[in-house]
Amino acid sequence: MIDWNSHVPFGSTGIQVSRLGIGSSFVKDAAIVEEAVEQGVNYLYWGSIRRPAFGKAIRNLARKNREGIVLTVQSYSRVASLMGPSVELALRRAGVEYFDFLLLGMWNQPPSERLVEAALRLKEQGKVRHLMLSTHNRPSLQGHFADSTRGASPFDVFMLRYNAVHRGAETDVFPYLPEQQRPGVVAYTATRWGHLLDDAKMPQGVKPLAARDCYRFCLSNEAVDVVLCGPADRAQMQEAVRALDAGPLSADEREHICAVGDHVYGKHAPQFAEGGDKHAA
Ligand SMILES: NC(=O)c1ccc[n+]([C@@H]2O[C@H](COP(=O)([O-])OP(=O)(O)OC[C@H]3O[C@@H](n4cnc5c(N)ncnc54)[C@H](OP(=O)(O)O)[C@@H]3O)[C@@H](O)[C@H]2O)c1
Repeated sequence: MIDWNSHVPFGSTGIQVSRLGIGSSFVKDAAIVEEAVEQGVNYLYWGSIRRPAFGKAIRNLARKNREGIVLTVQSYSRVASLMGPSVELALRRAGVEYFDFLLLGMWNQPPSERLVEAALRLKEQGKVRHLMLSTHNRPSLQGHFADSTRGASPFDVFMLRYNAVHRGAETDVFPYLPEQQRPGVVAYTATRWGHLLDDAKMPQGVKPLAARDCYRFCLSNEAVDVVLCGPADRAQMQEAVRALDAGPLSADEREHICAVGDHVYGKHAPQFAEGGDKHAA
């Protein structure tokens, strides 16, 4: 019996991670994050926007039990020399000595050697423990996975778009995950920027999906270790936490959710298309 409330190995990092992760972009209140951590969530992602309330939650939680949380900080820096100062500022603001992951954000092509070297330097200095990469060019992950198989990738975890509307990862990413030295996988945009929750974007006579089921959709694919949520308030945070109790989708639920996803894909363009999508062709 699958229990999504149990933590799982995060790729080959040796870290045990909760199936739900919290993204900071919409968080205005530290308490909603702290409550979710008390309920078992341990993966905290301080990006794409480093909200101060989220930093406050990290500070409070780390003071009590730093080892109890898995912290990711993101850098969108394209300039190698700016990455270190950005991470050091984040360390000071969060009141921690290290981040578990430094996420190099939005790399649709592999980052430059200089940038990777700057990230590896932070790792050597003990300021970050592992590197992660996010992309909006899903097929590019195949090359990263080939590097992982050869033991030549600096990245231990990859973060990508996967939801009921954008299911391309099922064909252009997940089948390519290496079996040995398997990297971790984090899925973002579970709600497709809220479109799957929006009455106006549904097929006629069909109710919008519950956010809970958007997260369940992602976690029902065994390639996904962690699904991110971007809660704007306590109710949204708690709904995401409750997805973990509900467990995997039934075949009928998946069929319905995919039909809704197909409708949204055909009728409502994404905020921006990504490599692998038909929209991007
Ligand atoms: N690095 C990258 O390349 C990358 C790419 C994409 C996303 N991200 C980050 O990933 C994190 C997660 O974002 P996401 O888009 O995946 O999160 P999400 O939870 O799928 O979506 C967040 C938005 O969906 C709505 N929502 C969520 N739960 C809801 C509920 N129960 N009821 C009604 N509406 C609900 C809210 O919209 P309202 O505010 O309108 O209520 C919320 O702002 C964020 O920090 C984001 O910035 C990073």
